[in-house]
Amino acid sequence: MPWVDYVPTVLRPGILLTKAIYHFTMAIFETIFTERSPSSLFNLTLLRHKSFARLWIANGEAMTIQMPGPLDALLSTSRGVILDIGPGSGEILPRFNSAQISAMYGAEPAIDLHPGLLRNAEKNGLGGKYHALVCGGEPESLIPALHKSGILSSGSGGGEGVFDEICCIRVLCGVPRPRETIRGLYGLLKPGGRMVVCEHVVNPWRTPEGSVVGRLAQVVYTLLGWPFFMGGCELQRHTPEFLTEAAGKDGWASESFEYVEPTNAFPFYVGELRKRG
Ligand SMILES: C[S@@+](CC[C@H](N)C(=O)[O-])C[C@H]1O[C@@H](n2cnc3c(N)ncnc32)[C@H](O)[C@@H]1O
Repeated sequence: MPWVDYVPTVLRPGILLTKAIYHFTMAIFETIFTERSPSSLFNLTLLRHKSFARLWIANGEAMTIQMPGPLDALLSTSRGVILDIGPGSGEILPRFNSAQISAMYGAEPAIDLHPGLLRNAEKNGLGGKYHALVCGGEPESLIPALHKSGILSSGSGGGEGVFDEICCIRVLCGVPRPRETIRGLYGLLKPGGRMVVCEHVVNPWRTPEGSVVGRLAQVVYTLLGWPFFMGGCELQRHTPEFLTEAAGKDGWASESFEYVEPTNAFPFYVGELRKRG
């Protein structure tokens, strides 16, 4: 590939990182001067969610106009009881067919995104069916929230398969302990249930599809503080591996995936996995 073709690979993440640093700074000012609560700055997790929420409110819609690969087709066939991990402010909800959905649970830890999320649920025919939970996708946060919402029975420890479908869209890059978190999500799927995934992952540079330049850009942006300013988002996650491993030694009934733009710093891994029935 000629070197000029690599320019977007190298520069595009820099634009987003600059915006993230701006919103992080503004979140600090807001906490000190608007909320007059400087002591809240010691809660770094809260501050990072707040700053990411600002970034997402300003840019999320534009970043959702075109979704990678077959995602739109996959979401248009989603049905039943669905768990959406990290739905943000619900920009993705128009991609679902609300008539096929009986209930939808959104596990969104950034409380500042919930008003937009509920507004978008209402706008897209999911108003009465949508349950916005203030929690993350990691088991210690998600399981109590699901118990509280009533979908998990009180005696169950969390490995109860209750969802027809779990959607992970641009979120597994930021969940803590991804291996364990994805295993937890696998446990929540009904037998025969489907996981839909659209995630940027570590560049597959060792394969003919990937690129060394893309992989190096991931290292450089990580060193420049990408995960810190981007709400914990990691550019170098081995999510494809974690997904396959989550089903244990029996494996998934089926896995179907494609890489989208695998040469750049944001190679997306898009597809579906079906749990054995
Ligand atoms: C890049 S946005 C994607 C939003 C939405 N899924 C989409 O694609 O339009 C990532 C979202 O994940 C949320 N998030 C961050 N940490 C999370 C966690 N541990 N569990 C679940 N969601 C998380 C963020 O607050 C944010 O709303």
